Amino acid sequence: MNPKSLTIAIDGYSSTGKSTLAKDLAVALGLNYIDSGAMYRAVALYALENNLVINGKVSPVLKDKLGEIQISFHFNPENKKSDTQLNGKNVEDQIRSARVNAIVSEVAAIPEVRRHLVRLQQKMGQTGGVVMDGRDIGSVVFPSAELKIFMTADESVRIKRRWNELREKGFESTLEEVRENIQHRDHLDTTREDSPLIKTEDAIILDNSSLSREEQLDIAVNWAKKAMKSMALQTR
Ligand code: DC
Repeated sequence: MNPKSLTIAIDGYSSTGKSTLAKDLAVALGLNYIDSGAMYRAVALYALENNLVINGKVSPVLKDKLGEIQISFHFNPENKKSDTQLNGKNVEDQIRSARVNAIVSEVAAIPEVRRHLVRLQQKMGQTGGVVMDGRDIGSVVFPSAELKIFMTADESVRIKRRWNELREKGFESTLEEVRENIQHRDHLDTTREDSPLIKTEDAIILDNSSLSREEQLDIAVNWAKKAMKSMALQTR
């Protein structure tokens, strides 16, 4: 079975290493990687830059501006990574900043924003051969994905990971601030009315609290191979 037709959905809480695993799987299996969280982050950055966040609240006007927001991914040969572009501008670093972190879950809870981005994501993955990470990939974006992984890790591990990630990008914050932000985002992501983060019945849990990057990749590649085998059996 050709991995190019495989769709892998990775969902889970904030800072569980979804994008690291998704990128590693894409390289290992020759799939396209799509970071759906980056798309919500780009919309949040647009709202901040266009004065659509007033006293920490997202203005309803954002819904009318969705048609003006172009989001795309471009391969950066310097770091061999895919950078997020918002209306033609590289915003890869800006969308990871604390000010975007503070507002992105509110933006992601707006049904019109979700509908718009889900449509784009489904279009990007319509031919298969894709690994996408987010919160609603297995439940809403690709409900028939051949492999669904639900990632989790101890909260202390996740806080330390996010703190390191922010520091590496030059954003200073305390562990306490990171803890508050992660808890706040998990709460909003799991309790919002429109497509909250859930583990679907057919998703496999991957708890990577004490797994190395290589170990988690090994596990997931084996799951992907099994998924490909059963796809091959079904198409016989
Ligand atoms: O994965 P991330 O931290 O980059 O995601 C940023 C925010 O976007 C997160 O708070 C949840 C939201 N999100 C979502 O609601 N649905 C997705 N498919 C991806 C992200």
